[in-house]
Amino acid sequence: MRLLKFYQTSIGKKYVVAISGGGLFLFLVAHMLGNMWVYGGAEEIDSYSHHLRTFMEDFFGYGGFLWVARIGLLVFLIAHVVTIILLAKQNRRAKPKYQHRHKSARTLASMTMMISGPLILVYVVLHILQFTTGTVQPTSYEQGAVYANLWNAFQVWWIALIYVVMMGFICLHLYHGIWSMFQSLGINNQDRNDSLRLISTISAVVIFLGFSSVPTLIWSGALPAPEATEATQQHVMVESEDLIAQTEGEHHEP
Ligand code: HEM
Repeated sequence: MRLLKFYQTSIGKKYVVAISGGGLFLFLVAHMLGNMWVYGGAEEIDSYSHHLRTFMEDFFGYGGFLWVARIGLLVFLIAHVVTIILLAKQNRRAKPKYQHRHKSARTLASMTMMISGPLILVYVVLHILQFTTGTVQPTSYEQGAVYANLWNAFQVWWIALIYVVMMGFICLHLYHGIWSMFQSLGINNQDRNDSLRLISTISAVVIFLGFSSVPTLIWSGALPAPEATEATQQHVMVESEDLIAQTEGEHHEP
């Protein structure tokens, strides 16, 4: 009951946005580090992806741990988005009090939060449909062949470009989000603000560089093409069998 009352206050909501945002940020750090396996080659990143599904398999079953992580992530995401909407409504109602906000305190990142946020949501949905479920397949896709899927996707310049541009939006969102998190949790003060701004900037830039390096380096040809995956091998075998059958048929014709 006391928690619900706290949630109803503006400060309570800011805490929820800050903590859920912090959780989502930690996911991004883990995801970015996981993506770095791509530089070890197909075997490394594919077995990392497989490992995510077999982690604690005895306890959770195949893929069970991943589902626990997915549900946790979804809870953070819903808490973050719903609370931001409620907070915006609450602030609008209390607007006269805040009418004299200093314009100088506004940055490009803070002004674009309400655009970058929904854009990131759309991106995440399309991203999962492309790389996790393979529902949207602008390029060839094979379940579990993470390296080949990434390599094939980022051969296409506009897919690589969309990923890098989206990372720009995510970087802007993170810069302001991390800075706001420090304020909401009351960590900021005049003596520390410069360092906290620096931490926000460095975190956002590292996330941007880490993620964008993958589409950029694959598109530029710095990473080797994957060996033929099982699906392509089977496809080639079926095609050559058809070809042999065809030529044999031609020879037997009178
Ligand atoms: C260049 C940037 C990125 C690349 C190359 C990338 C790559 C991938 C790949 C290959 C997968 C599938 C992994 C697997 O099946 O084991 C994946 C899953 C996922 N990615 Fe990304 N990702 C990028 C950026 C992001 C960003 C910025 C977010 C969030 C804002 C994100 C959120 C997710 C989520 C939620 C999943 C699904 C995880 C699951 O449920 O299994 N990704 N990503």
